[in-house]
Amino acid sequence: MDIDDHKLIALAREVLPFAYAPYSGYKVGAALLTAEGRVFQGVNVENISYGLTICAERSALTAAVTAGCRLFSALAIASEGEKEPLPCGACLQVLREFGNFRVIVAGKQNKFLTFTLGELLPHPFV
Ligand code: THU
Repeated sequence: MDIDDHKLIALAREVLPFAYAPYSGYKVGAALLTAEGRVFQGVNVENISYGLTICAERSALTAAVTAGCRLFSALAIASEGEKEPLPCGACLQVLREFGNFRVIVAGKQNKFLTFTLGELLPHPFV
């Protein structure tokens, strides 16, 4: 199946109900598209020790790497919020390790914003 930006956002939204966010109440879903056309989904997983929280983007990335995938073409991130969920600085650095692919973000509205990782983190630690 050909996966366009709309489909990738739909796959990020699909897992929103599985996000574990009892502390912030802010659920995030992610869908990471590999160069071969496979998709790995992830959600944020919070912890009572707040700093141990794993963001949705890193959940999706670790699932993909665990399956042997390291080449990516796009990442969709969805939230139920008004504003589009831009990845945090820590996630940008972790994602950037694996290239300069596209990032599509969508809040609850039917509006997407699209960036490259390089635009969001122009000067990563290397
Ligand atoms: N969060 C993500 O999962 N991804 C983002 O891009 C930004 C923030 C999560 C972390 C935490 O569980 C909640 O959103 C509120 O910060």
